[in-house]
Amino acid sequence: MEFASLFSGCGGFDLGFAASGFRSKGAFDCDSEAVENFAANVDGPVSRVDLTLGIPDEQSLFGVDALIAGPPCQGFSTAGKRLVNDQRNHLLTLTGTLALRISPKVLVVENVSGALSGEHARYLKNLDNTMRLSGYRTHTLRCQAADMGMAQLRRRVLFFAWRTGRDVDFSYRNAPHGQLRTVLAGADKQPNHNPRRLTKHGKEWNIARRIKPGQKLSNVRGGDNAVATWDIPEVFGSITEHERTVLELLRRMRRQERTRDHGDADPVSLARLEAALGARFHRLVEGLILKGYLRRVDGGIDLVGTFNGKFRRLAWDKPSCTVDTRFGAPRYFLHPSQQRGFTVREAARIQGFPDSYVFRGNEKAQYRVIGNAVPPPLARFAAEFTAHLLGI
Ligand SMILES: C[S@@+](CC[C@H](N)C(=O)[O-])C[C@H]1O[C@@H](n2cnc3c(N)ncnc32)[C@H](O)[C@@H]1O
Repeated sequence: MEFASLFSGCGGFDLGFAASGFRSKGAFDCDSEAVENFAANVDGPVSRVDLTLGIPDEQSLFGVDALIAGPPCQGFSTAGKRLVNDQRNHLLTLTGTLALRISPKVLVVENVSGALSGEHARYLKNLDNTMRLSGYRTHTLRCQAADMGMAQLRRRVLFFAWRTGRDVDFSYRNAPHGQLRTVLAGADKQPNHNPRRLTKHGKEWNIARRIKPGQKLSNVRGGDNAVATWDIPEVFGSITEHERTVLELLRRMRRQERTRDHGDADPVSLARLEAALGARFHRLVEGLILKGYLRRVDGGIDLVGTFNGKFRRLAWDKPSCTVDTRFGAPRYFLHPSQQRGFTVREAARIQGFPDSYVFRGNEKAQYRVIGNAVPPPLARFAAEFTAHLLGI
């Protein structure tokens, strides 16, 4: 079985197909660092090209068994701004155009589950229509990497289009979720493991040491999993018990009375805060503005920093949250028991890359290509369905 790969990145998707017995006829991506890593670690030819200009020598790929594609997901991801007209979203539609020129027996496209919701869904619908109108049957599969036994929560969409006339049952049995402890065991003895601990007594170190496994720095929600800035007075400044009452009340009110349908919540009007707090209001709020906890905004009052999702400390006995391009930065993700982010090897292990894959180039690019990759175990899962669609 042969395949070609569009938006191939560092080759996560390709590794899964290769492991399932497919042989690569060509891979294409515009990022030089992704291509460098691919060339050094994945079998098969890889070219650095801008796919908006077409696929070079596309006739040589005509009728290939499988075409796989991982177009950029940033415009669809709920972790980003989710602009409907993000230029990158059109690359999902372009995938259909390129596929028809190659006419693969099976097309497999991976993207984030955000590509299926709201107005953004039109790009995947377009792709679906393009393939159906050309005689392909299609199926869109939502999946969760942890349900395949991975130690990572990563919700993704796999879109299949095929013209082999075969019926395939796309259901699968969930496996128990993997744990970080298992997947990171022995990572310290492998290449690309250069832990960078936070400087002792520095600001980030002082924040990190207050955050336990399963917790994150967040002023947006209360509860056991959130540590608020006012719980870390050595960094953010001390407050009185009355001031704490104001901050916690404001946190509740800003969520209860939302006016926008985006963002984590809205500023609270002065009148409402005054009504809720009575006579003590002005003095306490003024004090919190002076201390840098509150600010006046749009005729209301809001927290200075919401910090939602920062300094998230992962837990040994749970799967990781979704690995993204920031996995080395402790202000986003903290190692379960050390005051640092994750090393390149640890991020790669959580994504399911083998230790034999040695990452090259600058470290920022290494985190980028790993965070953007299709986890090879998820790719293997897609490759097995593809083999069924091909009747193998
Ligand atoms: C989600 S990543 C792909 C990950 C890859 N499938 C893997 O498993 O490692 C998206 C890729 O699209 C590439 N890309 C974005 N725009 C492109 C374009 N116009 N032409 C070619 N590649 C492009 C990026 O460089 C990035 O590597």
